[in-house]
Amino acid sequence: SFGPNIFVESQWLLFKAAIDSHLTKTWSASPIINGQAIHDSSVDGKAQKLDSHTVRAPWNHEVIAGDVQYANADLARQAIDAAVAGQSAWQAVPAAKRAAILRKTADLYEENYAELMALCQVEAGKTMQDSIDEIKEAVDFCRFYADEAERLDAKAHEFTDLSGKQSRQVYKARGTFVCISPWNFPLAIYTGQIVAALAAGNTVVAKPAEQTSLIAHFGAQLMYQAGVPVEALQFVTGAGEVGGALTAADNLSGVIFTGSTQTAQRINQSLNDHAQASGELPVFIAETGGQNAMIVDSTALPEQVVRDAVLSAFGSAGQRCSACRILCVQEEVADELIELLQGNMAELVVGNPLYAATDVGPVIDNDAKQGLEAHIERMVAEPTASILAQTPMSASSVVSQEQSTFVLPTAIEVKSIDVIGGEHFGPILHVLRYQARDLNKLIDAINATGFGLTLGIHSRIENIVEHIERRAFVGNTYVNRNQIGAVVNVQPFGGCGLSGTGPKAGGPHYVARLMQLSSESVAT
Ligand code: NAD
Ligand code: ALA
Repeated sequence: SFGPNIFVESQWLLFKAAIDSHLTKTWSASPIINGQAIHDSSVDGKAQKLDSHTVRAPWNHEVIAGDVQYANADLARQAIDAAVAGQSAWQAVPAAKRAAILRKTADLYEENYAELMALCQVEAGKTMQDSIDEIKEAVDFCRFYADEAERLDAKAHEFTDLSGKQSRQVYKARGTFVCISPWNFPLAIYTGQIVAALAAGNTVVAKPAEQTSLIAHFGAQLMYQAGVPVEALQFVTGAGEVGGALTAADNLSGVIFTGSTQTAQRINQSLNDHAQASGELPVFIAETGGQNAMIVDSTALPEQVVRDAVLSAFGSAGQRCSACRILCVQEEVADELIELLQGNMAELVVGNPLYAATDVGPVIDNDAKQGLEAHIERMVAEPTASILAQTPMSASSVVSQEQSTFVLPTAIEVKSIDVIGGEHFGPILHVLRYQARDLNKLIDAINATGFGLTLGIHSRIENIVEHIERRAFVGNTYVNRNQIGAVVNVQPFGGCGLSGTGPKAGGPHYVARLMQLSSESVAT
């Protein structure tokens, strides 16, 4: 198991009962434009019902979480127009008031933790611990970006020219931002993007991932309840086509995107094409995939390495951009570490995420499951690779494998990084042996993947740690610990290269990037 139970029994029973009271619910979601839930739209001049999609729990497809009505391109345009029209009113709201609304959102998330946890478990298949962490991170984003709104508002730089005239530089809102988020952090990243843009005084059109629209819809309702004006936040459901319609719209000041590198490249292309036609240059922030390694030398503590590698690779069923995908072990300690890894993986509980003891839940959907299993099959057929361990489903888990999307946690020994291909977004860990004399070649091979998100380092030699940190091209390094779960305002998070553009989420430059600096003369 990943760790000790954090609750005393009496607290636990109350906590679990509160969540269970929501598990039998079904939820629904539809676009919200200027506060109105939209259920139909005009197509060729005729009113038409929006396409409805049934949402099933990834751990048991017989459990229906609810239904989602998808927006179309026409509604996407209406949402942008509404957000653009709402811009001057929201920008005029003082920073302290904007911050108060975001802090109220955090309070409402905490008050509604039981329903939010139930949604994370049923719609996204998250374990209990991951659902708690999800809400905590969303709350942290609200409170941190609220503080940032006030800090930047107070931070005017004053200048004096040679004639004694004074000017100052101040932060101002930019306009309207489209926020496009992934399903793997359906509340935390979704909320973080929106509240950062709102903190900066921008209006927002939010399009969450189609797989987790119900969680996002409930989050939007809590934001309105906290006082976010309906003109300042427009909510658009739907898949990639709707996202494409939003990012191709006129009058955008920026796009904040988190998701795969391929989608980021598509959006970048669309923004470039549009800029050539319209002359607009929106800000583009993309936080994308990773091919993250953990480098372990012979001075590392083997038990600690294995605990941290297993959590980093299989926590959240490996569905974290930060997850460890390649465990690189110095040859001298490789056999011992592999044996410990096999033992540790045998202890993982894989199954129904509603059970408190479950460590690894399902992956998000059939597409993800098929892609991951195809990769495992390819590795089985690959002469230079071999399966080291595969954890079976837990016997106590009452789930049908056919009616769910579980992928068994798998460790595969490989002889080179190239053989892995790109990012495989699930519970698959590759293990690579290296010789101490080849450390630089190893770091260069990791850099050569083009990704640069997280890197774990396990070593007791300070010079080695510093050397790796200087040579590696990554956004976040973690030394002698796991490499997931960056904490807001503690480990500002984000990658470089194929992994993202920055600025780092949860850091001191994020809200500033969503604002423009304006130099103003001081009236004398
Ligand atoms: P995805 O790229 O498939 O989808 C992300 C979002 O983009 C969804 O809302 C989707 O509907 C939308 N989208 C898809 N096509 C679009 C288009 N053409 N135009 C506009 N929007 C479009 O990614 P995913 O599968 O939801 O998420 C998993 C990926 O996200 C992984 O690669 C993971 O590494 C990455 N991720 C990165 C971070 C980070 O902070 N770097 C965090 C979480 C996830
Ligand atoms: N911020 C998330 C993590 O660090 C993606 O795991």
